[in-house]
Amino acid sequence: MSTVAEHYERHLGPIYVWMAGGAEAALQAGAVEIEALNLPAARGAVVLDLGAGFGMHAIPLARKGARVTAIDSSAELLRTLTELRGALPVQAVNDDLLSFQSHIAEVPYAILCMGDTFTHLPDFGAVERLIERASAELPPGGVLVVSFRDYSVPLSWEERFIPVRSDEARILTCFLEYEAEAVLVHDILHEHKAEGWQTRVSHYRKLRLSPERLIDRLQSNGFNVRREPGMRGMVRLVAQRV
Ligand SMILES: C[S@@+](CC[C@H](N)C(=O)[O-])C[C@H]1O[C@@H](n2cnc3c(N)ncnc32)[C@H](O)[C@@H]1O
Repeated sequence: MSTVAEHYERHLGPIYVWMAGGAEAALQAGAVEIEALNLPAARGAVVLDLGAGFGMHAIPLARKGARVTAIDSSAELLRTLTELRGALPVQAVNDDLLSFQSHIAEVPYAILCMGDTFTHLPDFGAVERLIERASAELPPGGVLVVSFRDYSVPLSWEERFIPVRSDEARILTCFLEYEAEAVLVHDILHEHKAEGWQTRVSHYRKLRLSPERLIDRLQSNGFNVRREPGMRGMVRLVAQRV
C-alpha cells in the first residue's frame, strides 16, 4: 500500500488535472463552489486552503480578492498551482496540512479543506487535531469549510467500481475495498502508449468519516455548523466559529 504522499507522487499527481476535467473546467467549477459559499470576507482577507492541490479553490478565491496560503504535500500539484496562479496572491507551501499553524502570519478569516482532503488524514485523531487547531486560529465569525465523501455507508458489489474519467488515451476507474474505519481506494489507470494499452494500479487508505461524527466534533470545538450538498456528490460542512 502507498502512503497518501506516495500515491499522489507516483500515480495521481501526473494525471490529477486531467482527472479533474482539465485546468480551465476545474477552476470554473471551483469558482462556482466559492460563489455558492458566499464567504463574506473583506478584500485582502487571509484564507488558508489545506490540501489545496493545483488551486481549484485557492485561485478563484484569490480572484475574488483573498490572499491565500495554499498548503499541500504534493510538490507536483503545487508546481501546477504556481503556473496557474499567475500574479495572483496565492502562496504555495509544500508541507503537511496538520502543520498549517507554522504558516500563519496573519489571523485567517477562513480555512478551507475541500475536495475530499479530510478523508486523506491518517486517523480520526488527526481529524480531531485539525479541528482543534482550526478552532484555535479562527476569530469569532471565521469559517472552516470542509467538503468530503461520506464513505460511512459502504457500497456493495459492482457499485464499488467507480468510473472516474475516460478519453481515447486514458481510462481511470476506482475500486473501493472497505475496512472498519477506512476504505482502500484502488485507482486503476489504463493508458494508451505507442506499444498499446498499459495498466497501472495503486491504492491508498481514506477515512470513513460520517457527517454526524464530524459535526459533533466541530460543535464541541465551538463551531456552528451548516450542512449542505457539495460538488460531485460530496457533503459540505460550513462551520462558523462562535
Ligand atoms: C482529493 S485532492 C483535493 C485537492 C483540492 N482541495 C481540490 O478540491 O481540488 C487532496 C489533496 O490533499 C493533499 N493532501 C493529502 N493529505 C495531505 C496532507 N496530510 N498534507 C498536505 N496535503 C495533503 C493531496 O496531495 C491532494 O492535493
